[in-house]
Amino acid sequence: MRSITTDLALLAAASALLKDATASLYEARAEDPCAKIAGQSYVAPADARACLSYFPFNETLRQNVLDVVSKVFDFYTFEDYYLAPIAEFGQPAVNIRDELARINSTGYASDYAFNKDLFDVVNGLNDGHTGWYTYCYWETFQNLLPAPVISLEVDGAQDVYVVPDLVEFISLLGTEYTSYYASLGFDWARLAGARVVSIEGLPAYSYVDYIADTVSGNYLDHGVRVNSVFSSYRISGGNYSQRFGDLAGPVFPDLDNLTMEVILGNGTEPETVVIPYLAGYLGEPFTDAASYWANNCAANNETNGVDYLTQGAAAARSRATLQPRGALAASNSQGFGIPSQFVPNLTAIYGEDILWSYILPDNKTGVMFVGSFEPEDYYGFQSQVASVISTFLEAGVTQLLIDLSNNGGGYVCLGEFLHTYLAGADFGFPGYSSAVRANTLAQKIVAADIAQGINDSYAFYPPDNWAYEGNDTAMDQSYNYITPYVTRTINGVAYNESQRFYDVCTPFNVTIPAAPPFDLSKVAIVGNGDCASTCAQFSTLMYERHNTTIAIFGGKPGETMQFKGMAGEQVLEWYDIDSEIKTAGLQDDPLAPPDLLVNADFRHNWRTAYSWEDEEIPIAYYSDLPQLRFPYTPDTYMSPQALWIFAAEQIFGSSTQ
Ligand SMILES: *[C@@H]1O[C@H](CO)[C@@H](O)[C@H](O)[C@H]1NC(C)=O
Ligand SMILES: *[C@@H]1O[C@H](CO)[C@@H](O)[C@H](O)[C@H]1NC(C)=O
Ligand SMILES: *[C@@H]1O[C@H](CO)[C@@H](O)[C@H](O)[C@H]1NC(C)=O
Ligand SMILES: *[C@@H]1O[C@H](CO)[C@@H](O)[C@H](O)[C@H]1NC(C)=O
Ligand SMILES: *[C@@H]1O[C@H](CO)[C@@H](O)[C@H](O)[C@H]1NC(C)=O
Ligand SMILES: *[C@@H]1O[C@H](CO)[C@@H](O)[C@H](O)[C@H]1NC(C)=O
Ligand SMILES: *[C@@H]1O[C@H](CO)[C@@H](O)[C@H](O)[C@H]1NC(C)=O
Ligand SMILES: *[C@@H]1O[C@H](CO)[C@@H](O)[C@H](O)[C@H]1NC(C)=O
Ligand SMILES: *[C@@H]1O[C@H](CO)[C@@H](O)[C@H](O)[C@H]1NC(C)=O
Ligand SMILES: *[C@@H]1O[C@H](CO)[C@@H](O)[C@H](O)[C@H]1NC(C)=O
Ligand SMILES: *[C@@H]1O[C@H](CO)[C@@H](O)[C@H](O)[C@H]1NC(C)=O
Ligand SMILES: *[C@@H]1O[C@H](CO)[C@@H](O)[C@H](O)[C@H]1NC(C)=O
Repeated sequence: MRSITTDLALLAAASALLKDATASLYEARAEDPCAKIAGQSYVAPADARACLSYFPFNETLRQNVLDVVSKVFDFYTFEDYYLAPIAEFGQPAVNIRDELARINSTGYASDYAFNKDLFDVVNGLNDGHTGWYTYCYWETFQNLLPAPVISLEVDGAQDVYVVPDLVEFISLLGTEYTSYYASLGFDWARLAGARVVSIEGLPAYSYVDYIADTVSGNYLDHGVRVNSVFSSYRISGGNYSQRFGDLAGPVFPDLDNLTMEVILGNGTEPETVVIPYLAGYLGEPFTDAASYWANNCAANNETNGVDYLTQGAAAARSRATLQPRGALAASNSQGFGIPSQFVPNLTAIYGEDILWSYILPDNKTGVMFVGSFEPEDYYGFQSQVASVISTFLEAGVTQLLIDLSNNGGGYVCLGEFLHTYLAGADFGFPGYSSAVRANTLAQKIVAADIAQGINDSYAFYPPDNWAYEGNDTAMDQSYNYITPYVTRTINGVAYNESQRFYDVCTPFNVTIPAAPPFDLSKVAIVGNGDCASTCAQFSTLMYERHNTTIAIFGGKPGETMQFKGMAGEQVLEWYDIDSEIKTAGLQDDPLAPPDLLVNADFRHNWRTAYSWEDEEIPIAYYSDLPQLRFPYTPDTYMSPQALWIFAAEQIFGSSTQ
């Protein structure tokens, strides 16, 4: 199959399985804390927690969830890398099986407490390709602080600041949000551009580190997680958008307030402010606890996988997009439009969906802001890139800047497409050598797919999805690439994986120029390191194969930062791996996980990409530092255009005069 993908929004869609038994259970209790906040867009965090914590811990659900999670972890390519800490990335060791055993024997006060513990353990892997997303609790109430922060260089010194565009940004949330603060008499607007001295009693950068280690997740490298703590610009929903960042916009309503010591924009003396959070509701509508559970928490008809052989390839396609993809960065941590003064005022060559392109005032530099590799139109993206580059060339553009800030990834083959378009068709295979984990069940799946003639219209494991490593030709449908397997030793443990294979991305839908359209030494990448999945693969490929200059903005002074945020190769959502198992007819195998009883996704990194520099090391674990690092300034932190003009001058030495 060219692919199955799971749309989180779709999965979160409500089912209406209101259970009478559930209803009566909650009616028996005096007050219903969910009914109290029903229908409200914004609620105090304590009220949100009261609703989330209302559902009692349930042993049946714990056993079901742990059964699914532990059996899916059997497919996880990176499990053994967590047996030892990786100092270079600031990643502590996590013994996944010990943690699951601990969760299995811990007493919990509520179903929320159990789920949050499991979330935190998986989040602590700092791999956005792997996550426990329970739609009952995850991103239902996002805590929002009217004081997003950013690290800025001002007069030669870097410090943490409340975003200078605070008033314009927070005003975009509307009065439903701001009236709460008005009712408290809390003047958040005066914090705009304030320098933050300390947070919760810690020096500001130390508190940022703490959030990077306990909240951010997603990115293996601590330096990259630091940028995720801060507010930043991105393309989201087809438009420029400002992220709150993980300090000001965490996706659980854990905190009531944050104490900051600040020096106001016009002041000299520090003062202490206690800033209240307010949680925005992002889940499905509900009226009380029973309907909250039914609409957000109970498994629905799209939670678990299906047997595509009985449902037909059309069912696979209706769920699916067309190609394997890595994940979008898991947390959508809400943002809103960026204040209008920051939207580029240059005429866009192309500006829609995920691709925004401009020619800078020097008339030599073309900019492509690639917001993700998951466009609305998989084929359309290819012709847009071709058309933008042809417009650049006609206009005499000789150098190209690609902005990958907050690029959440997407289709593997669109990353390979962009690389191939820039490198020219003569360059050859544009991707990575990759492999999947050869656990016993995975081997049974491939054997069953081959025996039953199940092909790539139905699933990912069938051999004809992949190309032989080395000659880039599609595998024969009966070629068993996983048995015999290959054994490597990781942290002293034997790890079994398939033979290496390549992606099949060609033919692309547009003609690829034989030679590079721009001198490859005149192609550079800018970003903030929050570059997920296909974005990480694309930038690493450009760097490893072409020595492309990469300039990373932000981060913390004095700390290194990888340029690739999250570099697996391909994820399978819970629905996807379950469908692989069911389509192969193996749902009754003792190694197969049961259906989930709750509305959740357990995503895992299913396929690994190996570095060209060292073919024994997955690119996720191969250290690649950007050649250039720049702090953000008040001019560049939220203005993409100002950042591009600055970057073009620094990288290409061009002048805008
Ligand atoms: C626990 O969850 C199971 C599965 O949803 C349900 O059948 C059972 O009634 C629940 N137990 C309690 C005590 O609510
Ligand atoms: C959790 O522990 C129980 C024994 O207390 C065991 O039967 C069960 O298999 C364990 N669950 C998992 C997922 O390991
Ligand atoms: C400092 O600026 C804030 C708004 O930015 C304003 O509310 C306050 O009155 C000013 N203080 C002084 C002393 O000017
Ligand atoms: C801040 O939150 C803490 C912890 O929830 C609470 O104890 C404290 O009263 C809050 N402070 C203010 C000023 O609201
Ligand atoms: C699941 O149920 C919903 C609501 O009844 C429906 O809209 C949706 O199409 C169903 N999805 C599938 C895959 O059957
Ligand atoms: C995109 O942002 C601009 C400027 O903020 C706004 O005018 C426009 O309506 C937005 N478009 C969409 C589709 O949200
Ligand atoms: C860029 O092109 C425009 C339009 O042709 C022209 O007005 C401008 O002077 C040029 N700028 C430079 C730096 O050459
Ligand atoms: C895949 O299998 C289906 C059903 O057997 C068949 O109709 C289809 O032609 C096959 N596709 C390929 C590319 O072999
Ligand atoms: C590609 O390599 C595989 C494995 O080495 C081999 O079986 C196949 O015949 C080769 N195909 C071509 C076209 O060279
Ligand atoms: C894109 O290419 C594929 C494979 O060559 C083809 O099936 C499809 O029709 C093309 N789509 C468009 C929109 O050109
Ligand atoms: C890669 O580019 C850097 C400049 O960014 C240069 O110093 C270095 O020599 C280049 N390396 C290779 C192998 O071309
Ligand atoms: C366009 O935006 C830049 C900042 O990026 C600003 O310096 C310039 O004045 C703006 N030009 C116009 C005509 O608004």
